[in-house]
Amino acid sequence: MSLDSTARKPQDRLAALLAEDLDRVNTLIRERMASRHAPRIPEVTAHLVEAGGKRLRPMLVLAAARLCGYTGAHHLRLAATVEFIHTATLLHDDVVDESRQRRGRPTANLLWDNKSSVLVGDYLFARAFQLMVETGSLEVLDILSNAAATIAEGEVLQLQAARNLATTEETYLQVVRGKTAALFSAATEAGGVIADAPEDVRRALFAYGDALGIAFQIADDLLDFRGDATATGKNVGDDFRERKLTLPIIKAVARADAEERAFWTRVIETGDQRDGDLDHALELMDRHGTLAATRDEAMAWAARAREALGAVPPHEFRDILGEISDYVVARLS
Ligand code: IPE
Ligand code: IPE
Ligand code: MG
Ligand code: MG
Repeated sequence: MSLDSTARKPQDRLAALLAEDLDRVNTLIRERMASRHAPRIPEVTAHLVEAGGKRLRPMLVLAAARLCGYTGAHHLRLAATVEFIHTATLLHDDVVDESRQRRGRPTANLLWDNKSSVLVGDYLFARAFQLMVETGSLEVLDILSNAAATIAEGEVLQLQAARNLATTEETYLQVVRGKTAALFSAATEAGGVIADAPEDVRRALFAYGDALGIAFQIADDLLDFRGDATATGKNVGDDFRERKLTLPIIKAVARADAEERAFWTRVIETGDQRDGDLDHALELMDRHGTLAATRDEAMAWAARAREALGAVPPHEFRDILGEISDYVVARLS
């Protein structure tokens, strides 16, 4: 990709506009991820944090607060809080999913072990809560602690739905709204709340984050089948191997004939996976157009995110947030 096209990505332009704030957030993250008593903590957190990550959720907090006219410093603490919650869930998620690659590096569970990932994840959750308490806003605490509970519920619901071919699109939506969109909507809503924005604007910011998070996760699930590991920094085919009922599979199962159903039962329910099965799954999904249908759904949620911004006051950041909703699905084509 040329430098020029990278510079045009909306999240890069947003990062450039928020550069000062983001620097301060990154400093705060580095300060708070340290531990004087257990050296394993900074080792693990540095491995993950230094690998980068898009910092999308902190940018959402900062942009929401700024577009509501905020001039204080609590938005920096909130931005670091959401990145800590995100990083904690990634550590836990890679244990649950038995993933081997994250942000282009071997996962912490692979380099150290599951025990370290679980415990360091817990530590980061605790650090997130300390940071948000420092804002002194009970409303913000309410939003972010609810989000933390909802994320865990989403992950557990997904665990229960895995390997079950009867999983519906409705359950899938509940999973992604919980495990992913809850943190996006909490990020945008908390940004508005810290800026003391009026109720209708807070609601619009929540609706934007919710729809953006859903579009983002549907896109991520599509990339798990069709992505490029160098671009995503994660292995392709993880969801299939974990026998997860993501949207492309749910749609393919709904359109399957008897022979195809027997295939899905073997690979997803029984878990008897052989060489070539992932390619065959892709063939079936292509045959029924389920990857295209999944992409259409991601685009519909992105459009909803953009629409929600209609109730937010005009601002440079509002325009970029609208472009970001298009971009999370544009990376699919
Ligand atoms: C990964 O999120 C987890 C999902 C919700 C799919 P990101 O793709 O935002 O991860 P980083 O922070 O940029 O690595
Ligand atoms: C991401 O779920 C959501 C959370 C980390 C809570 P996934 O398992 O689908 O995301 P990746 O593909 O590992 O990033
Ligand atoms: Mg995962
Ligand atoms: Mg997962």
